[in-house]
Amino acid sequence: MKEPTPPDWLEPDDHVVFDRVTKSFGSVQVLKGIDIRFKRHETAVIIGGSGAGKTTLLRCLIGLEKASTGHIWVNKRDITPLGEFEMNEVRQKFGMVFQYAALLDSLTVLDNVAFPLREHRKDLSRKAVKDRVVTMLNQLGLFNKENNMPSELSGGQRKRVGLARALMLEPEVLVYDEPTSGLDPLTSRMVDDLIEETREKFNVTSVVISHDMTSCFRIAHKAYLLIEGEVAAEGNPFDLINGDNEQSKEFIRKSGISPQSIDRIVD
Ligand SMILES: Nc1ncnc2c1ncn2[C@@H]1O[C@H](COP(=O)(O)OP(=O)(O)OP(=O)(O)O)[C@@H](O)[C@H]1O
Ligand SMILES: [Mg+2]
Repeated sequence: MKEPTPPDWLEPDDHVVFDRVTKSFGSVQVLKGIDIRFKRHETAVIIGGSGAGKTTLLRCLIGLEKASTGHIWVNKRDITPLGEFEMNEVRQKFGMVFQYAALLDSLTVLDNVAFPLREHRKDLSRKAVKDRVVTMLNQLGLFNKENNMPSELSGGQRKRVGLARALMLEPEVLVYDEPTSGLDPLTSRMVDDLIEETREKFNVTSVVISHDMTSCFRIAHKAYLLIEGEVAAEGNPFDLINGDNEQSKEFIRKSGISPQSIDRIVD
């Protein structure tokens, strides 16, 4: 099948673009025409209540679900018509940091982090895999933990292990699903710092799904409020609260945070 021609409005810094994306399950339309331009090297945070369609959007983004209609342009290439073989290549551009780190409890830290390399880089020797894993763990501030079991680590350390695993195949886009949920406030702020440091150090574009408004105000270049499968508001989080969009003001007000007191860590 001939691939669609990218529209002329796509810009070089448009990394991943949702272009009128819909997704239905049976007769229920869950995403109702999503337009989002994820900019290269920025952090986008997607907020919204339960059932708004955040996880569905994320699954379309990383190619685990196919959009029903519309286009998803990744580096100006539409991924929506791709078959399974090509999609597998595209998926490697995305690193996924799962909620609660999703580590395999019966495997050591080394084996958890080595997993993607052993799947996709069968050309690497055992020693080369181990070297890469240890180097990555050290870069993320985890020293001499490779032989530990996940149960022997703190919540923040487990998050770093999950992040190390997501980075092993050198993704362009890092996607975080609820990275701070279940963590105490102090560890949550450390995770914000980790997301920002990782964006800088590994030169990635970050997409974060979050219920944590403090985190959103600290790390988002752009925030997107999803309501019933539509983008109800978008912009710098401070624009969302100071602008004239009542839905986003209401959503932020209900979260109970006071944005003035938040130390933002991106410009
Ligand atoms: N595979 C599926 N089959 C049918 N319906 C689905 C499927 N996946 C999601 N849905 C429906 O789509 C809607 C959005 O779900 P989604 O998981 O994307 O919401 P969410 O914003 O991630 O919510 P939460 O904050 O609770 O995680 C829900 O009504 C859900 O029941
Ligand atoms: Mg969800």
